[in-house]
Amino acid sequence: MRSKFGIWVLMTAAIIFAGCTRDMRDDARLKPYEPSGVMADGRSAWRVPENTVPRGYLREDEAYFTGRANKKFVSDAPADAASRDLVRGRDIYGAFCALCHGPDGQGQGVMTEKGFPEGASFLDQRLIDAGDGYYYHVITNGFGRMKAIAGQITPEDRWSAVGAVREIQRKAAEDAS
Ligand code: HEC
Repeated sequence: MRSKFGIWVLMTAAIIFAGCTRDMRDDARLKPYEPSGVMADGRSAWRVPENTVPRGYLREDEAYFTGRANKKFVSDAPADAASRDLVRGRDIYGAFCALCHGPDGQGQGVMTEKGFPEGASFLDQRLIDAGDGYYYHVITNGFGRMKAIAGQITPEDRWSAVGAVREIQRKAAEDAS
């Protein structure tokens, strides 16, 4: 019984491994920057044509992509972002802001429990008065000890996160009244 099983294992393995050849490994390909005879100038890759923008990177809408218009922070999120998704915004806030700014926006998150400096409280009058564009700008570029998080949060999600901060501020104002 045992030896029969062994034979089956061997046969199955033989069939599976017969599929492994070195074809892919030995494929004709060029390493990055490796010279070649493919292009007239000896390069192996096309240069990016001048004055071109990769698809999806044409960021002409200044307010949307910087939070500013006419050198001022916009007070309300641009129209395109106005349909921002609050459910998504809460998720982004929970994942990327709450750890330092706290779930209630007052600056006590898990990071601060571990000794990281407290994030500003979103209930400060100064920050309540700040425009949506200012929040977008801080997320994009960082502020003081807070690093930029632009690499992790898309512009769309940044606006959604601002929506979540606004909700926290609104709720706090309602509770207070
Ligand atoms: C790693 C911790 C950390 C994370 C994550 C973080 N912040 Fe901050 N944030 C800080 C700290 C610390 C400060 C205060 C910086 C200072 O005063 O030097 C701050 C300040 C701010 C300010 C205030 C700027 C001002 O004028 O005082 C805003 C607005 C802000 N953060 C928004 C956000 C938003 C929105 C998110 C999530 C998308 C976020 N932060 C994520 C740590 C963080």
